[in-house]
Amino acid sequence: MNNCIPIIKLNDGNCIPQLGIGMYVMYEKDKCIASIREALRLGIRHIDTAVFYKNEKFVGEAIKNCGVNREEIFITTKIWLDQYGEKKTAKAIEECLKNLDVDYIDLVLLHQQVNDYIGAWKVLEKYKDAGKIKSIGLSNFDESGINEILNIAKYKPVVNQIEAHPYNHNSKIAEVMKKNDIKFEAWYPLGHGDKKLLKEQIFEELSKKYNKTPAQIILRWHIQKEHIIFPKASNLNHIRENVDIFDFEISQEDMDKIDSLNKEKSYLFVPVPLYRFIMKFIKHIRLH
Ligand SMILES: NC(=O)c1ccc[n+]([C@@H]2O[C@H](COP(=O)([O-])OP(=O)(O)OC[C@H]3O[C@@H](n4cnc5c(N)ncnc54)[C@H](OP(=O)(O)O)[C@@H]3O)[C@@H](O)[C@H]2O)c1
Repeated sequence: MNNCIPIIKLNDGNCIPQLGIGMYVMYEKDKCIASIREALRLGIRHIDTAVFYKNEKFVGEAIKNCGVNREEIFITTKIWLDQYGEKKTAKAIEECLKNLDVDYIDLVLLHQQVNDYIGAWKVLEKYKDAGKIKSIGLSNFDESGINEILNIAKYKPVVNQIEAHPYNHNSKIAEVMKKNDIKFEAWYPLGHGDKKLLKEQIFEELSKKYNKTPAQIILRWHIQKEHIIFPKASNLNHIRENVDIFDFEISQEDMDKIDSLNKEKSYLFVPVPLYRFIMKFIKHIRLH
């Protein structure tokens, strides 16, 4: 297997592996640790977690004595919106460091564009200056939120983590990010495992043509779009599949065919303003 994972340079000079493993809805400690250990064994060096996912402690345990140096592993976490504000954000970051049991975090994101995100951003910048966070960024920010941050920022956000998969390219916000050299991190890269997406005729066809699974075709499509991805997989065979996408290339013609599935349609069941309003009252969602 050629698992030479590309490294992407961020606008602050730090580097991030383009493929990682996501930790959303990884509630069980044993599964979480087993997935991370398998990912590390296969050469994955990027883990995406969040306070909201309630598994930072498991991530910390998984990377302890794992045989890979801390400096080789890129850890992202996200602070939740009830942790925004000058005092609350500092406390939140200290808790993340403690839960992950690390001296520094590679990337910390503001999870949602709600509440006092300007106050929170200023605290992230202080922690970057202190070296306890290497890079700082955003998640689920739209054009107005990005511009508000850019207007007050000492450091530009290095990434914005947004929903993206073949049904939703999120093109408008992607343009804004590109213009400002903010890298594109795609959440739900496999549509959160949506069977309809994975069973689209085009992926069945390309699967045969390239001798890869539909999930591998979709992940390779993301890689060629220059998205940073971290599919979640608790099934160890899925993790093995997901890293085995660097020995083939999808032709431009086939990329265009996949692009034609785009409907700019989110999996969110409510419009973004209502979603943000609901998020204000939610600390944790259990989808399964
Ligand atoms: N910033 C945000 O607001 C936000 C929101 C959502 C997610 N995220 C981040 O993005 C990551 C990815 O999103 P996600 O976990 O929600 O969804 P996803 O990665 O698109 O899909 C995960 C689902 O796909 C399945 N899967 C994984 N590899 C597969 C394969 N090779 N073949 C078939 N099925 C496969 C998994 O099954 P098994 O578990 O059974 O292997 C799981 O059910 C999250 O874990 C999280 O880190 C961020």
